[in-house]
Amino acid sequence: MTISKSLNTAGTAIPVAHRVSTFSYAIRNIVVEAQRVEAAGTRVRYLNVGDPNVFGFKTPPHLIAAVERAMRDGFNGYGPSPGIPAAREAVARELTSHGFPISPDRALITAGTSEAIELVMTALVDGGGEVLVPMPTYPLYAAVVAKIDARAKYYRTDPSRGWQPDLDHLKSLVTPKTRVLVVIDPNNPTGATYPASTRRELIEFCERHNLVLLADEVYGDLGYDGPIDPIGKLDPDAAIITFSSLSKAYLAPGWRTGWLGVGRTPRLDDALAAIKKLADGRLCSTYPMQFAVAEALLGDRSHQPAFRVELKKRAEITARSLNAMPGMSCVAPIAGFYVMPQLTLPAGKTDVDYVLGLLRATGVLCVYGSGFGMPADAGFFRIVFLASPDELTEIYGLMADYTKKFLEG
Ligand SMILES: Cc1ncc(COP(=O)(O)O)c(C=O)c1O
Repeated sequence: MTISKSLNTAGTAIPVAHRVSTFSYAIRNIVVEAQRVEAAGTRVRYLNVGDPNVFGFKTPPHLIAAVERAMRDGFNGYGPSPGIPAAREAVARELTSHGFPISPDRALITAGTSEAIELVMTALVDGGGEVLVPMPTYPLYAAVVAKIDARAKYYRTDPSRGWQPDLDHLKSLVTPKTRVLVVIDPNNPTGATYPASTRRELIEFCERHNLVLLADEVYGDLGYDGPIDPIGKLDPDAAIITFSSLSKAYLAPGWRTGWLGVGRTPRLDDALAAIKKLADGRLCSTYPMQFAVAEALLGDRSHQPAFRVELKKRAEITARSLNAMPGMSCVAPIAGFYVMPQLTLPAGKTDVDYVLGLLRATGVLCVYGSGFGMPADAGFFRIVFLASPDELTEIYGLMADYTKKFLEG
């Protein structure tokens, strides 16, 4: 008999930390059900994860060449923990050229925006501290807040006003424990971007309360009418930390390569030192991929205008098709590849009922709005609209038929 079998005769389960129970990652969790549907013989259209590569968009060849070269040249060990100088320099130049001037020592290369978010939150927010997070939110924010034993306070963004933040609601949530404000602009899941007046008010609010504004700008290059400037352009001296990556606008999400830029104000010097200390602890981000950052930011970007045209086309089909379905409405996205429509639900039904019903009946997989922090009875759900225009038309046809049946009960 093994030691474990002889000593642990009751087979007691190993307890897990409570913090894990306070979040769930709906975007991935829902895949379990999709696999069941697939196993039963229905083709599943995975409109749950925002990965352009899955839908045929290709990583630019010069970026792949840069990574290949780095691997061949032997850059396969650990790299410098804040990132290679050429990549940090490129990030600083990129942000500076868009009106948010920072020096390379304030740029760090990370394992995607995701790690940047985690490093910064861990550096800035103690257990019990409060983080202002948009509702709906990109779910990683809730996950990281839970991980560091902090508390998310959700400020509303309003679909009746193009998904702009409800500033009065935001202001009502601040307490002495609040440390940071998360702003996702351009936004996942809503496809909104904020006008300068709103951005200015967000900065003003943070400065008034000594909060750090965390600007998630991973979709900044994907405005349909051209790149969208970082919020820091409006006040380069404000306490702003910006995030982005190669995942979306450079079509390489699997490389897990991103960056953060810490605003030039000396008020952020301690924060920068803390972030660097944490970055030392995780050794480095993926080393060979860092060699693509300068190529991406300083080299040929001709894939981007073409990508923006494709996204705009898909956004238009999406908004037109959804708004034509009785009971359904959506705000037309203006950046990125997500939309968050709303269905007026029959009494007693939830967004999960609709999304699972749609999946089982048609194979179309979306994510329910409650996975992004919305009330389950409000009828929101998120669609990733990266599929080809023809496939999207087919998908919205299936969705229209199912929705009609769902509403008829
Ligand atoms: C708003 C937002 N932030 C961060 C991320 C994570 O991106 P990365 O692949 O750079 O970690 C995503 C991915 O979908 C996102 O939508």
